Amino acid sequence: MKIDVHFTPVGLVAGDLVGRGVVVIDVLRATTTIVTALANGAKAVIPAATSEEAVRLASNLEKDGVVLAGERRSVKIEGFALGNSPREMTAAAVAGKTIVLATTNGTPALVATQGGDPVLVGAPANFKALVERARAILVQRGTLVIVCGGRDKQFALEDAYTAGRLIKAVRKGIRKLALNDAARATVALIDQFPGWKEALEGSEAAQQLVDSGLGEDVEFAARADRFGVVPVYADRRIT
Ligand code: MLT
Repeated sequence: MKIDVHFTPVGLVAGDLVGRGVVVIDVLRATTTIVTALANGAKAVIPAATSEEAVRLASNLEKDGVVLAGERRSVKIEGFALGNSPREMTAAAVAGKTIVLATTNGTPALVATQGGDPVLVGAPANFKALVERARAILVQRGTLVIVCGGRDKQFALEDAYTAGRLIKAVRKGIRKLALNDAARATVALIDQFPGWKEALEGSEAAQQLVDSGLGEDVEFAARADRFGVVPVYADRRIT
């Protein structure tokens, strides 16, 4: 059995993931936001690689019940109804709605994993449920790919730490498991932090959010197992 980690989606090419189970992780904040939106009753989240793409995708859908959401450099995109904060994805804002979401790293990473089967959306917020699904895929298929959103096409601590925790949890009882170099590094990272809070707060992304007045999003994202949903990305939409 084998688990491969990609620190960023850079270098993934269409076809790389065909027939392989994939987990996409972008803790601060895209995947936390998506998990929260679906847990609070959103009908679907459609990830867009850019804000222009989000506008285009939304215009192709029935206007009723479509909500544009997203950020650039942590700030809500002008003219969009919602930003990219998990705290905005309340039942009142999202229940029954289709959210078209554009973020800097997370939604481009999702778009880059199209072709994976299945593509799961993961974060500390749905960690326990995610572990169960990911482990079933690993056991069944013998392989699992974890793609981190990263930050500006670079390594992001909070995503890598979460990948390491996921590997540690899914490998329980599995004797022979091969890891690529990146996967090994994520596992080595686990012992550097007492828990989610410290690992997330220690990241550059968290610092940027705190500086933008969004420190509460970091706290929100660091609380594990809030929700039991494991969103699946298929046919261009996450449900
Ligand atoms: C991203 O996708 O780059 C992040 O979700 C950005 C953010 O949290 O603002």
